[in-house]
Amino acid sequence: MKTNILNEEQLMIMSLAGDFSKNEILPLASAHDTNSTFPRKTIDKLAELGFLGHYIPQEYGGSGLDFLSYIIAIEKISSACASTGTIVMAHNSLACSPINEFGNDNQKNKFLSELASGKNIGCFALSEPESGSDAASINTTAVKDGKEYILNGTKCWVTNGAEAEVAIVFASTDKSKKSRGISAFIVDLNTPGISVGKSEKKLGIKATSTTQLIFEEVRIPECSLLVGQGEGFKIAMKTLDAGRIAVASQAVGIAQAALDASVEYSRERKTFGSPIFDHQGIQFMIAEMATKVEAARLLTWQAAGLKDKGVKFTKQSAMAKLFAAETAMSVTTKAVQIHGGNGYTTDYPVERYFRDAKITEIYEGTSEIQKIVIAKQTLNEYL
Ligand code: CAA
Repeated sequence: MKTNILNEEQLMIMSLAGDFSKNEILPLASAHDTNSTFPRKTIDKLAELGFLGHYIPQEYGGSGLDFLSYIIAIEKISSACASTGTIVMAHNSLACSPINEFGNDNQKNKFLSELASGKNIGCFALSEPESGSDAASINTTAVKDGKEYILNGTKCWVTNGAEAEVAIVFASTDKSKKSRGISAFIVDLNTPGISVGKSEKKLGIKATSTTQLIFEEVRIPECSLLVGQGEGFKIAMKTLDAGRIAVASQAVGIAQAALDASVEYSRERKTFGSPIFDHQGIQFMIAEMATKVEAARLLTWQAAGLKDKGVKFTKQSAMAKLFAAETAMSVTTKAVQIHGGNGYTTDYPVERYFRDAKITEIYEGTSEIQKIVIAKQTLNEYL
């Protein structure tokens, strides 16, 4: 896609991520999906190219790039393999970001370079069996004991759960204070008392590891605390504000792949003596798909651009995720329809896009949660 919105560096990342995705990720995507295997070699290669520390400053071993170029890379990676996009997003947006944005120098020095190099994989442990959308209602506890905290609880839906060495863990240090009693910790997952629980069998993004993480009397040093006691909920919300832009970009990538496949197929497949693209019914579908993909991409880039400028972007991020996720779902649904019976089989990639698209309406806040965020932010503009 040509654009005059992006600068030279962003265009270079688009080209690098696009070529890598086409040549190295796409050929393996279907097999990793079918076998539910973690694409370890691909992740190692992405680390070598600097995509695992995309916007971590160079002084901490990262690539030091801007957020919009990260978003562009996520679109390209996800258009080839949404699972790989998810792994890279959870690592960058949900593990590296909170350390980079909220960590002190010691925490950054200790964790960031090994995450940026891909030596360590990161994850984000917020949700629990009884607490998903209502993130403030977590039951995991962190009790101060001398110079340590003791963690107890079960986290679920942890992307990269079984592959990660480092987790950002949210726990209550004072239940009576609700969201103001939640604290965030950087946890080395090799600490005694931590185990990987149930591994989810999913509809899509099957090559990702989604697990429970169980904490039983886990002693972590007090220096693991991010910012201060009671700051965890705001850290989670700010981290998710940015993470949602990446999910939006993943949704755009999946939708673009479905559109590309549909145009290609409809030019080749013939009915009633002509390619199906010549039928207006198909043209109307393609026109709608193409328009939604462009609109979703622009909303997503707008949110990323605001973040790069240091302007508040909570509303735009939620809008981008809501619209892009719904676009991915509607575009992949139409793509299957255009492919007819073929689209319902694993001989064509659109059934994978269709299955992968669904998660973008769910993780890092469902579409309904995005609407709550957008409504609150919109109301604030009138007060
Ligand atoms: N930035 C900064 N602060 C924020 C904020 C934001 N975006 N949103 C809320 N806050 C602050 C509020 O200002 C308020 O601060 P005070 O206590 O000082 O007044 C505090 O946080 C509480 O705010 P709310 O009363 O609005 O909080 P709430 O309990 O009503 O929840 C919510 C709001 C938006 C519904 C929130 O719970 C939410 O985002 N839920 C969805 C959680 C989610 O996305 N989970 C996905 C987890 S990650 C995942 O999917 C797994 C994976 O590995 C990919």
